[in-house]
Amino acid sequence: MNYFDNASTTKIDSRVLEAMLPYFSEIYGNASSNHEFGKESKNAIELARIQVSELINSKESEIIFTSGATESINLALKGFVESNFEKGNHIITVKTEHKAVLSTCEYLETKGVEVTYLDVDNHGLISLEELNKAIRKDTILICVMFVNNETGVIQPINEIGVIAKENGITFLCDATQAVGKIKVDVLENNIDLLCFSGHKLNAPKGIGVLYKKRNIEITPLFHGGGQESGLRAGTYNTPLIVGLGKACEIVAKDFETNKNKINSISKYLIEEIKKINGVIIIGNEKFRVHNIIDVIVPGLNSDILISKSSNLVLSNGSACTSQIIEGSHVLKAMGLTDLDCSQSLRISIDKENTQIQITELVDAIKAEIINI
Ligand SMILES: Cc1ncc(COP(=O)(O)O)c(C=O)c1O
Repeated sequence: MNYFDNASTTKIDSRVLEAMLPYFSEIYGNASSNHEFGKESKNAIELARIQVSELINSKESEIIFTSGATESINLALKGFVESNFEKGNHIITVKTEHKAVLSTCEYLETKGVEVTYLDVDNHGLISLEELNKAIRKDTILICVMFVNNETGVIQPINEIGVIAKENGITFLCDATQAVGKIKVDVLENNIDLLCFSGHKLNAPKGIGVLYKKRNIEITPLFHGGGQESGLRAGTYNTPLIVGLGKACEIVAKDFETNKNKINSISKYLIEEIKKINGVIIIGNEKFRVHNIIDVIVPGLNSDILISKSSNLVLSNGSACTSQIIEGSHVLKAMGLTDLDCSQSLRISIDKENTQIQITELVDAIKAEIINI
């Protein structure tokens, strides 16, 4: 199978699976128990916390394990607003954020929170000037994603972090498509709250992280057993946490090798796909990750290509919204039309993709083009 949907989810690394297995079978003690058996699980969780924190340059104590980016985003947004309502009632975010952010913001609006949704230009980038203009006395939070899941566009995170810091505003960053792909450093980037999911970096589904800088106050979504300093109650999911930790360790260790592999495959893909008449590659090359290539192919019905081919796995928008027929909110915010969206393809690669697969992919695309 030619799998080009790695931005949707990735295959579990065999070393991750191996690390997890004992915690499903032999080492099943509850990590919150005081006995030695429970402590074995607890120690494994604490090792994972170190592995995760080293990848993003945080302290271990600032890592909260959740079920995934969606939960982390909900916890960060709702939890921060609830804890900080006395300071203000205004959030700034962007029209091209993932639905996990946008739908949570819409929910918060029904509770009286005011939200500014920044526009993006035709490269998918926000304007720092517009961000500065949107800041009000009652702005408590700026929420901007690191890398867009549909286009791979990288926002100017360092500059946003500085603006947030200078204005005393908390900066929340959805880094689900960035962690493990490009350098993410919460200190250097001035990020106060950061979210991501394990399954985007060869860890299992159902595990994620909220990094919360020590001085930031949030209210929990769940109440119960007091795990994760009371911020995420519920019995620890030891195997999945262990898997995420291992994946972070591997990603850090293999970073340069994987980056070079992906860059060369991506370069080859771009060269090949550009040979198709009229192809547009979305986003400016300087502000894009190499593992996500979003293209518009004139004359292609991307839905047909995606649904008919059993050997080829691709996406034409984010998987979470692919049930919705109308064009992607991300591409439309960049000024593209419904027709452009219907001709768009997201090709997301990882270290296992090969040049032969790329050739097959480009041939399959060419075969579906209808010349009018
Ligand atoms: C940028 C971004 N944010 C959030 C999410 C939600 O992640 P999950 O479904 O793992 O909770 C995704 C998943 O596609 C994503 O790409």
